[in-house]
Amino acid sequence: MTGRLEGKVAIITGGAGGIGVATTILFCEQGCRVVLVDSDAEAMQAAVSNIRGAVPTAQVVPIVADVGREETATHVVAETKKAFRALDVLVNLAGIRAYEPLADAKRDTWDMLIKVNLLSYAYLIRDSLDQLRSSGRGSIINVASTHAVNPRAGMGQYDVTKAGIISLTKTLAFEEATHGIRVNAVCPGGTLTPFHLRRAKSAGQTREDLERGGAKMCLLGRWADAREVAYPILWLASDEASYVTGSVLMVDGGQFTN
Ligand SMILES: NC(=O)c1ccc[n+]([C@@H]2O[C@H](COP(=O)([O-])OP(=O)(O)OC[C@H]3O[C@@H](n4cnc5c(N)ncnc54)[C@H](O)[C@@H]3O)[C@@H](O)[C@H]2O)c1
Repeated sequence: MTGRLEGKVAIITGGAGGIGVATTILFCEQGCRVVLVDSDAEAMQAAVSNIRGAVPTAQVVPIVADVGREETATHVVAETKKAFRALDVLVNLAGIRAYEPLADAKRDTWDMLIKVNLLSYAYLIRDSLDQLRSSGRGSIINVASTHAVNPRAGMGQYDVTKAGIISLTKTLAFEEATHGIRVNAVCPGGTLTPFHLRRAKSAGQTREDLERGGAKMCLLGRWADAREVAYPILWLASDEASYVTGSVLMVDGGQFTN
């Protein structure tokens, strides 16, 4: 099926990352025009050429900027208006990780994670609302994580920000329903993106080691491909999900603890 986002305009943050590129390719395949935001200039260049390689007709505007800075939100929304004169979908996807047990959690790490993983979502939402309300069929998708709801040891700061995203999503769904904006969260489980491959490599692990580890993660016994997370995001962005708001969609291959 094509044209599921025909005529729509989306902003995708963290757009040069693994799930970001997969989501942008899918959105462009479905007729969406996309403003891509990422702080990594090199990754952005590779992402845009990747996206244009996959979808030669893709209409993509790349913006290299730090979404952890409040002023970036205003700038991105203004550039979107300038480029496409509309905004229908906001996908908040930018995220960073930290590996400090809470007993050792540093103030700078807290500050950075809260800025990038949580406040960037809040600022971009706030500054996009006028445009999304005018759309009449606005959709916001906030990407959290399974660890927003399933606790573990060692990544407390990250998990707290992801839990905050769920709360932000639900409150906003209440506040914006009368303005025609749907707001939902997607919680990916382990998704085999370049981030995990780089991290494994620096720890002396191979892709095969990672894949073996994935067998223990969930009922499906493997990592997700980024496109398997992008499809639920596409669905929530599309009018097919017109009766879905305030929901938290677990895209985790079935993660249950006994
Ligand atoms: N891959 C997984 O297993 C997994 C699981 C659960 C949740 N997630 C979430 O999905 C999202 C994407 O994950 P991914 O695996 O594609 O990660 P990734 O690291 O490949 O992508 C994240 C992107 O965000 C960008 N970014 C980081 N800080 C930024 C900033 N200050 N301003 C602008 N851009 C910034 C990075 O440059 C990167 O391109 C993240 O929010 C992550 O927490 C991923």
